[in-house]
Amino acid sequence: MAKKILRASQAEIEAAVQALRDGDVVAFPTETVYGLGANANHVSAVRKVYELKQRPLTHPLIVHIDHRRFLHRWAHEVPEVAEKLAERFWPGPLTIVLPRAANVPDIITGGQDTVAIRVPSHPMAQQLLTAFGGGIAAPSANRFGRLSATRAEHVREEFGDAVRVVLDGGESQVGLESTIVSCLDGKVRLLRPGAVTLEMLRSVAGEVELAGADEHVPRVPGSLASHYAPQTPLQLVLADELEATAEQLTSDQRRIAVLAQRPPLRTYPSVTWINAGSRVDAYAHDLYVNLRTLDKTGCAHILVQRVPDTPAWDAVRDRLQRAATTYDIEVVEEDG
Ligand code: TXA
Ligand code: MG
Repeated sequence: MAKKILRASQAEIEAAVQALRDGDVVAFPTETVYGLGANANHVSAVRKVYELKQRPLTHPLIVHIDHRRFLHRWAHEVPEVAEKLAERFWPGPLTIVLPRAANVPDIITGGQDTVAIRVPSHPMAQQLLTAFGGGIAAPSANRFGRLSATRAEHVREEFGDAVRVVLDGGESQVGLESTIVSCLDGKVRLLRPGAVTLEMLRSVAGEVELAGADEHVPRVPGSLASHYAPQTPLQLVLADELEATAEQLTSDQRRIAVLAQRPPLRTYPSVTWINAGSRVDAYAHDLYVNLRTLDKTGCAHILVQRVPDTPAWDAVRDRLQRAATTYDIEVVEEDG
């Protein structure tokens, strides 16, 4: 049974708030993935987040707030379309990039003139933000380039005791990082697909542009090819080629793992096969847990069945493509 923990005790929240006030780092659940948070107005605390994650300082963080009425504290300008998106999708899995307010520390924005802001809906994230009473800068709670954490134990596995407080809010309901849109220069652009789909965005914002992979867009860490990757090489395979590819790869006694959307046609002693099913929400919810599980089998390869080429699967397909390209695409990045 999935563990459902929605609220923290008063003592847990007090401990987390104290850590934030002391300039320490806390991990907290959100409905997308777990965040590694610091007081967004405390430069050395935010620096600790980058250090723990081993993330380059040029990659900006999302500021989490508990309600859209505080948007103006972080954004210098809030266009009407951003207000509408916030009203419709917050609290929820949407991040909005806006012109930054003057007081936002450079360490959060990577020195850019924009800032990313999100109001998470997970009740424990809301509890923490309200009790803290300020913005929490938080990337996903994983080391740079690795799989995001969707359970508290994955945060502990990743960081051990280096994180002073880890709030356990059970499994993240969505399981994939938030949708990111920018509302800049009169345009709305989708920077990262997520549970708030392009269609949903368009129903509120009208025209929404897609940010091309090679376009000059604000720097989005998640847009690096090396993101969301397990340590084992991962390859995307068409559904009807899974068995043949598995047989080929296991011919020399190597063990492999398969993340599919159907059961195997035959059983293989050297293949670990997960059938993640055909429902996109359930697939997304379990994606990082499944990849973590397969990554730990000690196998030589992970084969992932290509997901449907339909808009509903955009966010999942995006994460799988990034996980798969780590080993066969040269990442074009000046700061690695
Ligand atoms: O669901 C989520 O968004 C999770 C939870 C914890 O809120 N956070 C998350 O953070 O995924 P992170 O750091 O792993 O990814 C943050 C993304 C980056 O990929 C980057 O795209 C975007 O936030 N970002 C931050 N500031 C930005 C800016 N000024 N312009 C464009 N993108 C920005
Ligand atoms: Mg991340």
